[in-house]
Amino acid sequence: MSVVAATPEAISEAALLLQAGELVAFPTETVYGLGADATNGKAVAAIFDAKGRPHFNPLIVHVADITVAHRLAYLPDAAQRICEAFWPGPLTVVLKRRPDSGLSELVSAGLDTVALRMPDHPIARSLLVAAGRPLAAPSANRSGHVSPTRAQHVADDLGDKVAMVLDGGPTAHGIESTIINAASERHVMLRSGSIPGRTIETTLGIKLVRPVQADRPQVTAPGQLASHYAPRARVRLNVTHDFAPGEAVLAFGPFEALRHRTVTGMFINLSERADLIEAAANLFAALRKLDASGASSIAVTPIPEQGLGEAINDRLHRAAAPRA
Ligand code: TXA
Ligand code: MG
Repeated sequence: MSVVAATPEAISEAALLLQAGELVAFPTETVYGLGADATNGKAVAAIFDAKGRPHFNPLIVHVADITVAHRLAYLPDAAQRICEAFWPGPLTVVLKRRPDSGLSELVSAGLDTVALRMPDHPIARSLLVAAGRPLAAPSANRSGHVSPTRAQHVADDLGDKVAMVLDGGPTAHGIESTIINAASERHVMLRSGSIPGRTIETTLGIKLVRPVQADRPQVTAPGQLASHYAPRARVRLNVTHDFAPGEAVLAFGPFEALRHRTVTGMFINLSERADLIEAAANLFAALRKLDASGASSIAVTPIPEQGLGEAINDRLHRAAAPRA
């Protein structure tokens, strides 16, 4: 990993690294982001691996301008007005994804929505333009650590997990963007942040719904999202034999051998090579596909509880939990 001054040459090099699926940390006006190509599932999975996140939180996708936002998601009129008023800037809007957005499923943690923001920082914007693709970027710190406001913080926290850190000096705001769900007419403030809710309300003449715990940063933490994608099919974990007839199978690594032994309609291996990053990248799309097969249950073979395996198992345990 190298910390480099964000010269035009360094930004071009960073863009090439991103296009190749590598991680690049870059400054925004709020905090440093850990960036990856949002259309590359393995690159997005590498973000979770680098952060050591035990869960799959949906990530914010950074865009170069509002026309990109329109290509990725549906913007109702009010969302359009919110973006025009506050972009570029520390305001993130959650919108319905377009089916042909090309975004990885993991970036939304399986949800049918995506969080978009256009950062107000010359380095971030140059990088977005040079990379020519939307960039997923959570704060560039290890899970549970404070958000980085200097390039050196990123280097201290993430070390060689990141290919390059673009140094743009200290960030201006130091706290993350405000997040508004703007997918419908009911505008919910999901996270308070650099732009006060009041400012948004008075500027646009709209009313924001504040969930009771909106100012508690944990409220939108993984899996606490009520709308988190849950399969319709029953999910059984750690299954190695005794598959039910017609049961769909979600396998990992060596359990590939079961492909021909199971009498099921559907078999997907998250990673034949037993690569947890590849498995994470495939997880949500695989769950959806098996669920759509119409099987009444999905049997999941054991997945090792190391590295990203922890986040994969966390998600699968939620999918397997009894639902109200
Ligand atoms: O200031 C910021 O926003 C920084 C800089 C780097 O841009 N980025 C940032 O990203 O804080 P991130 O990925 O850590 O923020 C993730 C949060 C999630 O915890 C979740 O609350 C919310 O964004 N989020 C993302 N996608 C969502 C979705 N589809 N629905 C609801 N909430 C979502
Ligand atoms: Mg964070």
